[in-house]
Amino acid sequence: MPTSRILITCPKRMTSYLKAELIELGFSIIGESFAGVSIEGTFADTLRLNLHLRTAHRVLYSLKDFRAVTPADLYYHTSRIPWETIVPDDGYVSVVSAVETPSINNTQFANVKCKDAIVDRIRTKTNKRPDSGSDTDRTVVFLYWKGNDCCIYLDTSGDSLSKRGYRKLPHAAPMRETLAAATIMATRWDRKSNFVNPMCGSGTLAIEAALIATNRAPGLLRENFGFMHVQEYNPAVWQSLIKSATSAIIPFNGRIIATDHDAKAIYAIRENARLAGVDRLIEIDCCDFRDTTVPAGGGVVMLNPEYGERLGDIEHLETVYKEIGDFFKKKCSGYYGYIFTGNMDLGKGVGLRAKRRVEFFNADIDCRLFEFELYTGSKEAKE
Ligand SMILES: C[S@@+](CC[C@H](N)C(=O)[O-])C[C@H]1O[C@@H](n2cnc3c(N)ncnc32)[C@H](O)[C@@H]1O
Repeated sequence: MPTSRILITCPKRMTSYLKAELIELGFSIIGESFAGVSIEGTFADTLRLNLHLRTAHRVLYSLKDFRAVTPADLYYHTSRIPWETIVPDDGYVSVVSAVETPSINNTQFANVKCKDAIVDRIRTKTNKRPDSGSDTDRTVVFLYWKGNDCCIYLDTSGDSLSKRGYRKLPHAAPMRETLAAATIMATRWDRKSNFVNPMCGSGTLAIEAALIATNRAPGLLRENFGFMHVQEYNPAVWQSLIKSATSAIIPFNGRIIATDHDAKAIYAIRENARLAGVDRLIEIDCCDFRDTTVPAGGGVVMLNPEYGERLGDIEHLETVYKEIGDFFKKKCSGYYGYIFTGNMDLGKGVGLRAKRRVEFFNADIDCRLFEFELYTGSKEAKE
């Protein structure tokens, strides 16, 4: 397949972190929207992207851009793509889409039309008919149709890259792995000093921190990607990428500490960290957040407390957030403190002045990462 446009999608407000990752991997940015970044690249590049990107959801390799007004246009242009050279002989295809066009009010209909064009083309050319359905664990085609602009992509990720494969036990209100990675990237952590994560829940922040600190590519944890179900896929190329990513893993000499007062959370983080291959890097303890060990040497203390939906919760949480402020002041001097929350008022109630507030979305919830500078004698710490 030739060099083409590759659209990498990510959650809203995360494109700056995705762009930084792409530039570090050596790509030039050719376009950007609120939830995606475009680059130029080959199909082989999509393997490297799926392996290394921490903040991306999907790596979409563009097959064809065209104008479509009616479903018949969609069928015509889709059937001009040489699917018999793309979908494996014993293949299975699914079509997912983002459709917003006046001629169609049922997205499912657009997906079926697109799938029919693919299957009919392959049957005409090879006399064989691939299976099709809604499972996204084999060849996945992504249809983008907005107004009269249409683009057919190969979804080389298949399942969203936020599903790293290590979180078998989610516990309560877990952060998505991609969001956790982006919030860590937004901190001032140097990836060498300590990372302390009280209220760790299922451990997403601590596990992502361990992956980042050791330069472990997140794709090393996954066994299946959409690109593996495309004729052009070369397993030898993938194996050599895996080999070089494995040899790029570096030791980490700081301490990563994760604590939670709920024994079920501790059970979940132990299991998840083991599956992520970073259990030896994380010191896990079941305790109240105020009793968390904060070692000398500095680094980052990061919490993702509950942010509550019912009034009773809020009253209790106001106290909890205030106590987090006291914990920062008393035990975390020399650190940068961070609170990730979906409730700005609670975030403001910690009793310290935030140095920065970084905007994120957690699904559709408007969230902030509050940053506090906690060095001894600082104006903030005294307030
Ligand atoms: C929103 S969850 C954290 C989710 C986590 N970021 C993840 O990705 O799984 C908040 C966690 O704080 C814990 N927690 C609440 N109050 C606590 C306290 N006083 N001391 C320690 N942990 C507490 C809860 O048990 C829960 O696991």
